[in-house]
Amino acid sequence: MKFFIDTGNLAQIKEANELGILDGVTTNPSLMAKEGIKGQEAVFNHYKTICELVDGDISAEVVSTDFDGIIEEGKKLAAIHPNIVVKVPMIKEGVRAIKWFTDNGIRTNCTLIFSAGQAILAAKAGASYVSPFIGRIDDSSWDGIELIAQIANIYSIQGFKTEILAASIRNALHIVKCAEAGADVCTCPLDSILGLLKHPLTDIGLAKFLEDAKKFA
Ligand code: E4P
Repeated sequence: MKFFIDTGNLAQIKEANELGILDGVTTNPSLMAKEGIKGQEAVFNHYKTICELVDGDISAEVVSTDFDGIIEEGKKLAAIHPNIVVKVPMIKEGVRAIKWFTDNGIRTNCTLIFSAGQAILAAKAGASYVSPFIGRIDDSSWDGIELIAQIANIYSIQGFKTEILAASIRNALHIVKCAEAGADVCTCPLDSILGLLKHPLTDIGLAKFLEDAKKFA
């Protein structure tokens, strides 16, 4: 399973990248707004900086919702860097646009996936990735991990090549469960990635080893 970081924050992207396990980055308009970036030029420059920091796929989301607007915006985003993946919402115009991008050699990430039916449609249109939002599904009292397993099963039976990019990750356990359920990628906040490191027995064990090491220092 690949690891992406889900943020527009450059310091966090650098920290995750230094771990040596980072395969890419996802952003969305909310994450970009959180960084206080204003204007299309600044946003595009920010994507370029991220592409220079991380050698992997970088999802950049369109904000247009009509077919022509999505195509125009997506072409500009894709021109920033070869690693840009155009993130398109799961709406009717979005599905049409994903098919157009597929036919024209531009890779896409279909975002805001909350059902297996949506994942099938995105795959049929040729999306490179689908992003089911695990945490938001759990928040609404459904089972996000179950959706990952269902999509993985359908894609395997049908031979769809679209990669399952588990998004809206809230904690380290989500990452483990997504790996078990067959996600190809997990995009996570830095805290959830670092959460994988933690176990109290590791801390206790290390403290004891360091204490004993003093005996032969
Ligand atoms: C990823 O591509 C999504 O934009 C993101 O994971 C959404 O996460 P949230 O539900 O924490 O906002």
